[in-house]
Amino acid sequence: MQKAKDLIKIIRREAKKHGTPLMIISKDALKAQYSLFKRFLPDVFPYYAIKANPNPEIIKFFADLGAGFDVASANEMKLVLTIGAKPEKIIFANTVKSDKDISFARKNNVKLMTFDNEPELYKIAKNCPGARVLVRIKVSNIGSLVELSLKFGADPEQALPFILKAKKLGLKPVGVAFHVGSQCTDATNYIQALEMSAAIFREAKQNGIKLNILDIGGGFPIKHFDKDNHINFETLASKIRKELKRLFDKDTKFIAEPGRFFAGPAGLLITKVVGRTFRNNKNYYYLDDGIYQDFSGIVFDHCKYQFNAIKRGHKFLSTLAGPTCDSFDTISQSEELPELEVGDIVYVKNIGAYSCASAVPGFNGFQPAKIILI
Ligand SMILES: Cc1ncc(COP(=O)(O)O)c(C=O)c1O
Repeated sequence: MQKAKDLIKIIRREAKKHGTPLMIISKDALKAQYSLFKRFLPDVFPYYAIKANPNPEIIKFFADLGAGFDVASANEMKLVLTIGAKPEKIIFANTVKSDKDISFARKNNVKLMTFDNEPELYKIAKNCPGARVLVRIKVSNIGSLVELSLKFGADPEQALPFILKAKKLGLKPVGVAFHVGSQCTDATNYIQALEMSAAIFREAKQNGIKLNILDIGGGFPIKHFDKDNHINFETLASKIRKELKRLFDKDTKFIAEPGRFFAGPAGLLITKVVGRTFRNNKNYYYLDDGIYQDFSGIVFDHCKYQFNAIKRGHKFLSTLAGPTCDSFDTISQSEELPELEVGDIVYVKNIGAYSCASAVPGFNGFQPAKIILI
């Protein structure tokens, strides 16, 4: 987002206008992430994974920019369709779907979906005959913040039998999908996954099936801390680009499902200290947002955040906790923060993904942050 001074001005202005907790989504940052993706992966069409942040205004913003959408359920599909997404720009990228949700996809002409097991193929064939399917394979998720291969992905040697089965059932096996785990900072995960996918493309061809879509999933990393020095998107993308060129035919269509990378850097969360005490030899600050609200990513996303105060001064070891009556609602045990008073602001940058998306509305009567786009 903006330079430090401008940022503080915005924080003060918007907190005064809207109150706290407040989640500001920067349209400039959404646009910047989208443009960066297009610039460094020009041959890869992005389907924004709305699970990262399903805010309707964000969806509309990406729809207007021309993005497609990755949805995980009929409800997410309904949301993007209502906002105006075209069915041909939607991928139903949950490898396990209910009969009801698959039928909903068929009724709404969403015909591209992923699978990673045989029973799913029977379900798809029954509820959405002729669907175009991508077999999702299990790939290495080493070092990623969220390990997705624990739950998803066929063993690569199962891919060909599944592709042949799909064809037999009247479906259109069109390609391969994978996910290297969210916030992937090890390029090797992508490179190995691309090699494995290319081998499956070759095997399918030898068996008379020409695959033409490769879905490289999500996982593109962002900076959660100013001092993060892991591989940046630009470097990672140039490695991926080279491999795509080397391993796949010219007519292959490449797609991706970025979630965190599109929404994360755009989010700025503003909270206020609603209480303070001194216990266990440290400062305890109770904020108006917590684990059950916009810091839910600490639990579900395994994410750590950089907490910033506007106030300056000598820093002390501090605990940050949320507003509920649950001691689990402890945000961090060890932050270096200046002496804060009730009413002081604590803010977090780059928190637009997997934060409000998994917040619990109304636990103990506390609501997640109001969301505004500016
Ligand atoms: C199938 C699928 N696609 C895309 C994403 C988005 O991943 P990311 O936020 O790492 O880009 C996820 C995240 O869980 C996912 O499960």
